[in-house]
Amino acid sequence: MSKLDRVVVLGGSGLVGSRVLGLWDADLDVLAPTHAELDVLDADAVAAFLDQSGARVVLNLAASTQVDAAEAERGDRQGLVYALNAEVPGRLSRICKQLDVHLVHISTDYVFDGTQAERAYREDDPPHPLSWYGKTKLIGEQRVLQHHPGACVARIEMPFTGRPYPRSDFARTCLRRFERGETIAGVADQRITPVLLDDAVRALRALVTLVTRRHVGLVHLAATDWTTPYEYARSIADCLNLDRDLVRPTTFDAFAQTRPAPRPRHSWLDVSRFVALCGQGILRSFEQELRDWAMQLHESQPSPASI
Ligand SMILES: NC(=O)c1ccc[n+]([C@@H]2O[C@H](COP(=O)([O-])OP(=O)(O)OC[C@H]3O[C@@H](n4cnc5c(N)ncnc54)[C@H](OP(=O)(O)O)[C@@H]3O)[C@@H](O)[C@H]2O)c1
Repeated sequence: MSKLDRVVVLGGSGLVGSRVLGLWDADLDVLAPTHAELDVLDADAVAAFLDQSGARVVLNLAASTQVDAAEAERGDRQGLVYALNAEVPGRLSRICKQLDVHLVHISTDYVFDGTQAERAYREDDPPHPLSWYGKTKLIGEQRVLQHHPGACVARIEMPFTGRPYPRSDFARTCLRRFERGETIAGVADQRITPVLLDDAVRALRALVTLVTRRHVGLVHLAATDWTTPYEYARSIADCLNLDRDLVRPTTFDAFAQTRPAPRPRHSWLDVSRFVALCGQGILRSFEQELRDWAMQLHESQPSPASI
């Protein structure tokens, strides 16, 4: 892939998409129609757009991502969540296949039920989603690989960023609570592998190149080692010199009762397949991610002189 290769990004205004546009623009010819310019629910418009775009690869980040809100549509195959997460990827993969365009589609760790405590989930572990969001995302994955066997489906987990973004992630939520001196309930009996957003976006960059050269299929993008939400919150306190004792341990069962959508308990992804395909260094340990997160935070704070 070179600057001359065009990549169409769908969902470029979202959390992941906005960072993709920020990091890839210098390196690739990125074309990212806004929702207003291209409604991915309109199959004819998508086909016409891609036909005229000259794209070599499509990266699909358009989705319905509100896990709790999605439960209101549980079982509704006429609903927007199903349309965006299950039907759009299926149609998109058919269009890409017909046009001979490569496809990288994004999915989630929520396709698993989280009962696996001994080791992180690999790509060939059987999925069993609990939430409507997870179920619709799984159908989307399956349709992508059915209609376009050469496509890549990358599952990402809990992306977090120290750069400003309107929607809060776990790290940002903890930070706000630390700053207000509020306690934080951190689940201590759950294994997670959160990925720094920039690492995920660099990994996706490697995958858009790879998918043009070889079969990739399903691949996991996450931290290379695991933590717990409890340790995650305490590590944030440690790296910013905040009061780690504000973090109080809780159990997954107690946390789960407070949420409308059922969630996987052990939400951890094994990234050895990605490392074997793309090499070491792009995906990193949670400690390394957190160090960069703190640096991003520092860089995005206005300095006293500029206020
Ligand atoms: N964020 C996470 O924690 C997380 C975790 C695991 C996996 N993922 C997966 O990563 C991918 C990207 O997630 P994200 O957090 O970046 O999502 P997001 O912030 O919710 O963004 C979703 C994107 O989809 C676009 N979109 C929605 N409906 C559309 C339509 N009808 N036509 C065109 N565009 C439409 C939105 O545009 P408008 O806003 O303009 O409507 C937005 O750009 C998704 O596949 C998600 O399932 C995310």
